[in-house]
Amino acid sequence: MIVLLTSYEVIDEIKEALENFCTGVVSCADIIIMASRDAVTLSGGPNWEVKLGRKDSLTASQADSDKVMPSPRANATALINLFNKFDLSIKDMVALSGSHSIGNGRCFSIVFRLYNQSGTGLPDPAIEPEYRAKLDSLCPVDGDLEVIGNLDATPFKFDNQYFKDLVNGRGFLNSDQTLYSLDSRTKEFVVHFSKDQEAFFAAFVEGMLKMGDLQSGLPGEIRSYCRKVNARSIEKALVKSV
Ligand code: HEM
Ligand SMILES: *[C@@H]1O[C@H](CO)[C@@H](O)[C@H](O)[C@H]1NC(C)=O
Ligand SMILES: *[C@@H]1O[C@H](CO)[C@@H](O)[C@H](O)[C@H]1NC(C)=O
Repeated sequence: MIVLLTSYEVIDEIKEALENFCTGVVSCADIIIMASRDAVTLSGGPNWEVKLGRKDSLTASQADSDKVMPSPRANATALINLFNKFDLSIKDMVALSGSHSIGNGRCFSIVFRLYNQSGTGLPDPAIEPEYRAKLDSLCPVDGDLEVIGNLDATPFKFDNQYFKDLVNGRGFLNSDQTLYSLDSRTKEFVVHFSKDQEAFFAAFVEGMLKMGDLQSGLPGEIRSYCRKVNARSIEKALVKSV
């Protein structure tokens, strides 16, 4: 799938201000994790202390990212297995999916489930009919795939509305709805979080800390510009690969 990095200018601005103040000290990885935490907190979600000191990678590769990025077509079973590879539990996975409490997705990511779920030529039966009519008109067959829709009913508020929506068949992505509709192991947590926002917040923070602790084991650097590895490390990598 394509990883979208919209609003990345915000990260560039933070980085520039930091580099002017103390050059080469704060990694882009640390900036991103702090900005993510702040976005969650400012939109009504939990606040927590992030662990700092991560380095930026010496390479960047769409192919490497594609290997680990989950697909919006994935079902609960596939998501459980993928997250498990990173020692993230079913509870972590469901809670982390709750970040779809904020933000948008493109028609590109859902047309298959609106019109041809699993190649059946039919819509995903898990979609509640009124919501499906809404999605059908947002994303008609042969419509513009770049049009965006809300990932839950309150896309600017970090809350447990996302889980309430899933219980009501109003999940935007197939990967979201499947957590309620397909697998009893994930459904249990969806129902729990839909009724208990504090439990969701606590599990989300736990999942974010676990995800932030993941390490590639490869050497890193403090990038001076977040969109590119530092020039010197490109030269080194080239020398090595010759
Ligand atoms: C469980 C597996 C996941 C899948 C399959 C998935 C997939 C997606 C997809 C397809 C989109 C919309 C992209 C588009 O249509 O252009 C999206 C948006 C988003 N995802 Fe996920 N995601 C997953 C987990 C996560 C996690 C763990 C987080 C963070 C903790 C996250 C945070 C977000 C946010 C904030 C957006 C909205 C972006 C925006 O408004 O621009 N997602 N995700
Ligand atoms: C879930 O997805 C996997 C891999 O795409 C597929 O093999 C499996 O049959 C699906 N499971 C269900 C219950 O639909
Ligand atoms: C639905 O998907 C299947 C399998 O991918 C494909 O063979 C079929 O032509 C598709 N049908 C429509 C109407 O797009």
